[in-house]
Formats: sequence, structure tokens, C-alpha cells
Amino acid sequence: MQEEIEVLISEEKLNARIKEMAEEISRKYTGRQVHLIGILKGSVFFLCELAKHITVPVTMDFISVSSYGDGTKSSGIVKFNKDLDESIEGKNVIIVEDILDSGRTLSYVCKIMQDRKPASFEVITLLDKPDRRVIPVELSMTGFVIPDEFIVGYGLDYAQKYRNLPYIGVISNVD
Ligand code: IMP
Ligand code: MG
Repeated sequence: MQEEIEVLISEEKLNARIKEMAEEISRKYTGRQVHLIGILKGSVFFLCELAKHITVPVTMDFISVSSYGDGTKSSGIVKFNKDLDESIEGKNVIIVEDILDSGRTLSYVCKIMQDRKPASFEVITLLDKPDRRVIPVELSMTGFVIPDEFIVGYGLDYAQKYRNLPYIGVISNVD
């Protein structure tokens, strides 16, 4: 069957909410510098839009981890594919994630990053699917809480496709 995608969050709503999140970060870190850490590849669209609206100095780095195969079900195994380029010791780290689902990826990433002695540490996510949480993760900010559906777009993929959609959509007719 043909895959179908129905818009869940429009580009306008995404960008408006991300701007609010950036404003909150700018207020909170006034007089300081923030170091954004994006989790490749899903968080890239969110991180770019967010960074454009942050008014305090911003640096950024990326890690790559994978917890999903090509389907819509988590494998439960987190694999570290790419580490940071620079040390985070003494920096105000903000982990920027696309979606918090079971919590396996973020809890694993948080443990590794907190051990590296950042000056401060917080985690933000564009999307949260709380119904599917297996491991708790402490978030300081969430863009949108969404129902337990498999979604694509704005960085999120199904079998590596649809990351480039400018909106978040629910995909159907997949296994
Ligand atoms: P977790 O480890 O189960 O919390 O999963 C987090 C990762 O799984 C996210 O960073 C996404 O890459 C991926 N993921 C979880 N839910 C979805 C979804 O609905 N669509 C696309 N990717 C998802
Ligand atoms: Mg991700």
C-alpha cells in the first residue's frame, strides 16, 4: 500500500513554538554562552531554527547515535556512531533532541555527557511522546506533546525518507 502522510503540526506552528523556546533560552542564559549539542540526524532542522533565534552567543556540536532500524519500532539498543568534536568541560550544554520516545537514546546520551563536567546541563526536545516512555528523562523544555503515532518530517524519518518535509506528519500504511 502507498504510504500516506497527514499533517499533524504545520511549519508555521513549529517555527512559532521554536522561536518561543529560543526566547526562553536567551532569557535564561543572559550574559552567558550556550553550547548546543544536536543528535544527528533528526534534530538538525530543530537545532538550526532554534539557533537562529537565540540572542546570546551560541556554539554547537553534534553526536550521532542510533536506536532505530529502518522500521517504526525501537531496537532497544543504542549505538554511538559519532562523538563530539570538542570538549564540553565548563560549557553551558543544551542537548537538542527531535523526539523523546522510549527515553533510551536520551538517557544514554545524558549519562555520557554529564560525566564530562559541563558547567550546566539541560535537555530540550521538539516533540515528546510520553505514552511510550520506558526510561524517565528530565526535560527542561518541550515543543509539543504528541500522541503515540509514528511521525515524520522536520528532520524525522521513516526508513531515512521524509526528513525534508517542512511540517510534522503522521505516516500511515507502514509496517
Ligand atoms: P527513544 O530512544 O525511544 O526515546 O527514541 C528516540 C529516537 O527514536 C528519536 O531520536 C528518533 O530518532 C526516533 N523516533 C522515535 N519516535 C519516532 C517517530 O515517531 N518518528 C521518527 N523517528 C522516531
Ligand atoms: Mg533522534
